[in-house]
Amino acid sequence: MTSGGDHPTADLLDLAVSVAREAADVLLTHRRRMDDGADLGIRTKTSSTDPVSVADADSERLIIGRIADARPQDGLLGEEGTDHVGTSGLRWVVDPLDGTVNYLYGHPGWAVSIAVEAQDGAGGWDGLVGVVLDPTADALFTGVAGAGASLDGSVLAVNDPVPLSQALVATGFSYDRDHRRSQARTVSTVLERARDVRRVGSAALDLCAVAAGRVDAYYEDSTQRWDWAAGAVIAMCAGAVVTPLVGPSGTNGVLAAGPGLHPELSSVLADEGVRPA
Ligand code: IPD
Ligand code: CA
Ligand code: CA
Repeated sequence: MTSGGDHPTADLLDLAVSVAREAADVLLTHRRRMDDGADLGIRTKTSSTDPVSVADADSERLIIGRIADARPQDGLLGEEGTDHVGTSGLRWVVDPLDGTVNYLYGHPGWAVSIAVEAQDGAGGWDGLVGVVLDPTADALFTGVAGAGASLDGSVLAVNDPVPLSQALVATGFSYDRDHRRSQARTVSTVLERARDVRRVGSAALDLCAVAAGRVDAYYEDSTQRWDWAAGAVIAMCAGAVVTPLVGPSGTNGVLAAGPGLHPELSSVLADEGVRPA
């Protein structure tokens, strides 16, 4: 985690928020067209249940275009194919539509997710700024390293301490059926040990829910950087411990929880083969 150093975090945050709002307008326009019967050109990606549509692509194109115009030296990584190495030591990690299945069903629980990360000097990246915009709820979550997290301007703080037996734990599942087999085993153990489990369908919003105290923890062992980059900044800025996970078949993921709950949940997950990376 970085405190922002010499980077202009206020400018980065302003750009991320304005671009997220424009992308949300694109997505809401496509959603209304769908309601009117338009065909959004839905295809599948990693499996027959992993959808992508014109809405995802148009949102990413808008976000990447705006950022590249404003900050041509920065790197860019986006779910729908963007991968550009920059020279500034900063990169933008973008999920143009997280919660695609919810979006396509007209179900709430989808978001635009934009993170700015800074090179850490050891080949890794530290989250600097996170913006997650939930257009259905008209909710803007932000986090800036060293400056806290907020929801529409109100300061966020995780629930802590919470024992696992009292914890509401969010999780998510892979589009890959083989991964789901082990994820089902893991979640059944968590279900036995925790208060209850939630599966919203957007990793970005799950992490914001941790930040806002709407759940006590979130874990998922098969996610991509763009799924969690922005939400992880927001959760950390709200006081969560956020650490990388490796699933039983080597997939990557993340665990976020308050400092009191994190070690207990981490140990239960490790017993199921979902280990700290
Ligand atoms: C997915 C969502 C879901 C999570 C999956 C992600 P997408 O992203 O975040 O909650 O369980 O692992 O792939 O496909 O909606 O952008
Ligand atoms: Ca995603
Ligand atoms: Ca997506």
